Order: sequence, then C-alpha cells, then structure tokens
Amino acid sequence: TSIVTTLPESLAHVARLRRDGYLFWAKLRQRQETSVISTRLLHEDVTVVHGAEAAEFFYETDATRRSSALPIALVGPLFGEGPVHMLDGSAHARRKQMFNDILDASAVAAVADTVARRWTEESVHWRGELDLVEQTAPLLLESACSWVGIPLPYDDRGRRALDMLDMVDGFGAFTVRQARARRARRRTDAWITALVEEARRSHAQGQTPLEIIARHTDEDGMLLPAHTAAVEVINLLRPIVAISWLVDGLIRAFDTVPALRAEILSGEVTAFEMAQEVRRTYPFVPFLATRAVEELRWEDVTIPAGTLLVLDVWGTNHDPRTWRDPGVFDPTRFRVTPVTPYNLVPQGGGSRYEGHRCPGEDVTLAVLAALAGPVAALSATVLGPALGLRRMPPQPACRAQVDPDTAPARGI
Ligand code: HEM
Repeated sequence: TSIVTTLPESLAHVARLRRDGYLFWAKLRQRQETSVISTRLLHEDVTVVHGAEAAEFFYETDATRRSSALPIALVGPLFGEGPVHMLDGSAHARRKQMFNDILDASAVAAVADTVARRWTEESVHWRGELDLVEQTAPLLLESACSWVGIPLPYDDRGRRALDMLDMVDGFGAFTVRQARARRARRRTDAWITALVEEARRSHAQGQTPLEIIARHTDEDGMLLPAHTAAVEVINLLRPIVAISWLVDGLIRAFDTVPALRAEILSGEVTAFEMAQEVRRTYPFVPFLATRAVEELRWEDVTIPAGTLLVLDVWGTNHDPRTWRDPGVFDPTRFRVTPVTPYNLVPQGGGSRYEGHRCPGEDVTLAVLAALAGPVAALSATVLGPALGLRRMPPQPACRAQVDPDTAPARGI
C-alpha cells in the first residue's frame, strides 16, 4: 500500500529515526501495516523494501543509478569525492574491476594473517580496564598499510586510525560527529594524495595496491586525478579499520553467550560461522540507497522515476521470513538456512563482480574468522551498557575488563 505523507509526517520520521535507529523502518512497517514503505524523508520521495526477494529486486533492476542517490554533503566524509560507490555503468565496471583484482585471495590472506599475528603479539600486554576498539583499530590500520604499501610510523598509528573511525562515525550525523569526520577526511586525503603523487613521480612499477591505483586509468585512458586515486586508496584502508565495529561485535558475542568460547576453541562452531553471525547480528550499515530512473513496481507498489529506492539492510538481516529467531545469536543457523547472494546483506547483495556489492567481504570474513579463536581465548568482560540499536553506527568503543590471570597468550 502506498502511503502519502505530509511535511509534518516527514519531520516526525526524522524524530523517530533518531529514536528508533536501526529499527526505524521495521517499526514504521509495523505501524503502517505494510511491507513496503512509500513516504517522504528529508525532501525525498522514498520507497523502502526489505528481505531477500526485495534485495534481489534492488540489485537486479537496471533502472536505478547510484551517482545521484545520496548528496555529496552526506557521503563525502565517508567515501570521499568521486568514489567507485557513486559510479554507474561502464565507468563503475572498470573501476570496480580494479578493486576486485586488488582484493584477490592473496590479499585476503595477507591482511588476515597480519591482523591475527599483531593481535596475538599486542594482546599479551592487555591488562585491566581497556577500550578494546581503541586497541584493535591501530592494528587493523597497520595491517592494511603494510598490505597497501603505505609507510606508517608507529607513533602515527593511533591518530591515523582514529581518523579512519571518525570518517565512518560521522555518516548521517549533522552534528559535531560530522564536523569531526570532515576534518579526518581532509587530513587523510592530504596524507594519501601526497603518497599517490610520490608513487607517480618515481614511476613506481610495483604491484602494491597503492601503485596499482596510482597507475589506474579510467575509460578515456587518463590517470585518475591524484585526489580521486587517494580517495580509492582510502577506500581500502578505512573499511579495514572499520572492521573494528565487527570485532566489537565478536567480543560482545562471547561476552553475551559465554558457552561460545568453548565451542569455538573445540571447533564445534567454526570461526567462519561465528564471523557470519557477527556480521548478521551486530548493527553497522543500516540501509543502502539508489535512485529509480524509470517507473518501477515492487509487490503492489508503484515507484515513480526519481524516487529514492532504499534497501533496509538491518531489516533484511533480521527478516523473520528468512531467519528463524532473528534476534538470537546463533552461529549454527547457517546450517539450517544457507546464505544466498540476497538473504544476508551486511556488505550488500548480488555479485561483487557485476554490481556494487562490497569487494572487501572476503577480507572482512577472514579477519573476523582469524580473530575468533584469539578473542574467545581473551578473558575479557565487557563493561558499561549494552550496545543498543539507537545510535547509527554504534559508538566506536568497547570498554572491557581484561583478566590478568587468564591473559590471551594462554589461548590458541
Ligand atoms: C561497498 C559494507 C569492509 C571496500 C560496500 C557496501 C557496503 C559495504 C554495505 C555497499 C554495497 C552497495 O552499495 O550495494 C562493508 C562493511 C565492511 C566492509 C560492513 C566491514 C567493516 C570493506 C573492506 C573493503 C571494502 C575490508 C576493502 C578492503 C569497499 C568498496 C566498496 C564497498 C571499494 C564499493 C563497491 C562498489 O560500489 O562497487 N561495503 N564493507 N569494504 N566496500 Fe565494503
């Protein structure tokens, strides 16, 4: 059913969005007794769909465009200017091929192995009350930089990693968080642009991701502007550091369901299953948006050209039509309900080769799987309130008490 809302209702949505966070669309569906929402939000006509079939519709229709979907003011601090995320058609295909080539199996192994090794080395020293995200983010950045081919002085790790977290944390916030994200974006763009220019000056012919992106040409055979190349290098670094949010989820999962520690260490539950369930369960990307350029229909709803088509990511990952007891953390659920290209979409759906699906999914899964054992063996108790579903994304912090007697070195 199409529901036409008025300006006061649009404003009420903004208030509810702040209040309900990740549950915003689900609650609206409940209130309006419909599975497809057509409404107005922030001066836009919006149609919101959810679930595996809707995800297939979202990804498979040709009549949508990413380039005009979200305003640069909103996504600029997150993705930078001119990123692959906002390209369409053949320009997207060419740039995406570069990402898919860079993020091959050897890259996945290189990043995951370094993260696991560095975590094991560092966590031996963790004692008492700590912020485990603050500890993890620099290790992720170090691992990312050593793979991408970027020198990272030890003393710079903390502040550079914080900039990466801030760029993500500012998304969708119109407050001090967004101002912080903009400053972080400016600093990081300047840092990486200088490295791209240096690689070009030295005519580097190597195969590091930095060198490959610095040499990449677009459809017209031209090098990318140095700033755009830097944006794409950052589109490798920032999301690897953002895995911090999911490591937070991993830590919380063991804290909430302590029996999982033994099950992971014995192999009863696999590290891969654990990684998948963390990605399904813990809140991170709330939704995705594209713009209809022709009239579309989904279920019994007409979606006029120009409408913003939104996929409720949280609602799809928690859709009871697909996932039994979606609120329960159960890594063995995939034995009953196998993952398809569309039913589990924390990093997008469809094909990473044909569409916009995240090319870093294997890296993310490998890093989480590599950390499952070490995190299970870490005797840490999470402090403070539960994560909650209101803040998008959740606060990038995980305060925990690490027990000195059963320190991680004793683990696997
Ligand atoms: C795209 C999520 C990690 C690189 C995306 C998309 C999502 C996503 C939702 C958009 C899909 C779409 O628009 O349809 C995540 C999450 C991650 C993560 C939750 C875990 C923290 C990574 C990693 C990398 C990466 C580790 C690279 C090392 C990219 C790139 C795109 C992308 C380049 C743009 C793809 C395109 O537009 O074609 N990611 N991602 N991401 N991600 Fe990730």
